[in-house]
Amino acid sequence: MNSPAPSFQLRPLTIADFEQVTSLWRRTDGLSQLESAEELDRFLERNPNCSIVAEDDGTLLGAILCGHDGRRGYMYHAAVTVLARGRGVGRAMVEHCLAHLKSLAIQRVTLFTLDDHCPAKEFWKHLGFRHRDDIAQFAYDLKQFD
Ligand SMILES: CC(C)(COP(=O)(O)OP(=O)(O)OC[C@H]1O[C@@H](n2cnc3c(N)ncnc32)[C@H](O)[C@@H]1OP(=O)(O)O)[C@@H](O)C(=O)NCCC(=O)NCCS
Repeated sequence: MNSPAPSFQLRPLTIADFEQVTSLWRRTDGLSQLESAEELDRFLERNPNCSIVAEDDGTLLGAILCGHDGRRGYMYHAAVTVLARGRGVGRAMVEHCLAHLKSLAIQRVTLFTLDDHCPAKEFWKHLGFRHRDDIAQFAYDLKQFD
């Protein structure tokens, strides 16, 4: 039996979506620090057609940021509105990003979750991502660099 066609559409996220997607990300638990409009614009310019929104007749259902540095791919802020969860929107957005990165010859995709509070760890495992416990992350805030 054929599965029914999904009741949502995917399209590239653009800077015109800034207010809407930022509002979704703000309402969503478990996401890391959000970008300013300028940062998002720069990210999208550097990674054309990588980030995705899901919509149903123009209503935003979900969004994900995706990009690469020429070697590794990265995904951030995967979020689906509470009402739209469990309909395959998250999987469709992630698989779209994976296919796009693969078409660009990127070999691995990494994402970061907040250790204490990420309700979606099981979601990532379910989609085939492996949890890496062999890596310690170091970060340097450039505002402290003169
Ligand atoms: C995580 C999130 C993006 C999933 O979106 P979604 O649209 O509800 O997910 P889908 O309906 O596409 O589910 C895809 C698959 O993952 C499974 N799944 C979804 N959430 C899951 C969870 N929390 N734990 C385990 N499996 C999960 C589904 O059962 C489904 O399985 P199947 O395709 O094999 O039938 C959504 O719940 C969300 O926005 N959560 C809050 C934000 C968040 O935590 N983001 C990640 C930041 S690290």
